[in-house]
Amino acid sequence: MRLILLGAPGAGKGTQANYIKEKYGIPQISTGDMLRAAVKAGTEMGLAAKKVMDAGGLVSDEIIIGLVKDRLKESDCANGYLFDGFPRTTPQADAMKEAGVAIDYVLEIDVPDSAIVERMSGRRVHPASGRTYHVKFNPPKVEGKDDVTGEDLIQRDDDKEETVAKRLAVYHNQTEVLVSYYGEWAKSGKPGAPKYRKIAGVGAVEA
Ligand code: AP5
Ligand code: ZN
Repeated sequence: MRLILLGAPGAGKGTQANYIKEKYGIPQISTGDMLRAAVKAGTEMGLAAKKVMDAGGLVSDEIIIGLVKDRLKESDCANGYLFDGFPRTTPQADAMKEAGVAIDYVLEIDVPDSAIVERMSGRRVHPASGRTYHVKFNPPKVEGKDDVTGEDLIQRDDDKEETVAKRLAVYHNQTEVLVSYYGEWAKSGKPGAPKYRKIAGVGAVEA
């Protein structure tokens, strides 16, 4: 199974990815998690990316496409993969098409902007695994601690209210175009076209 999860920041891509990757036994390829790992490792690329991420912008297509192509060469991607937060621009989507990276399904998680800010302000993450909680909607068993490891949960640096507004604007300006990009490709029914599904992202996490 080869999937793309498309949706605004805070729509619940990471949350749904957690369920889907377990169900299908495929790796989650989250460009956001990969960038945060590079930030934590203090690499040159990570330090440059951190400035862009904290400002709510997008890291360059060139860097992102290179990261994903390298990741796809790893053996655990042989039976499928789940893209979370990628592609995010038309050049990124085109690069995958040109490289012949197969996609079976594009799942769009649709959440109104009004729900997004509350989701992000209550989000807590376990940095090592990427597991995500919400203080109100999906609380950990023990406050502030990861369910699996018991380690501390943190708040992401880009979850400040003003950064969230910028990230939403960037989504509408640069990423939302992929809704019609994949929607129309799916409708064309051409060989290699993915199937397209829109999911309402409001309601229970496990629905
Ligand atoms: P990235 O990490 O991809 O962030 P994002 O797309 O902004 O998405 P989020 O991770 O914020 O949200 P999510 O949809 O995963 O929601 P979650 O499941 O956590 O990217 C970060 C940055 O890296 C970007 O801003 C950019 O700078 C850079 N970057 C990454 N990829 C890039 C690319 N391809 N190109 C260029 N730059 C790139 O859920 C949110 C909260 O809501 C959680 O607390 C969760 O518990 C809660 N929640 C989830 N589902 C529900 C529900 N049904 N009901 C109530 N609450 C829910
Ligand atoms: Zn995420």
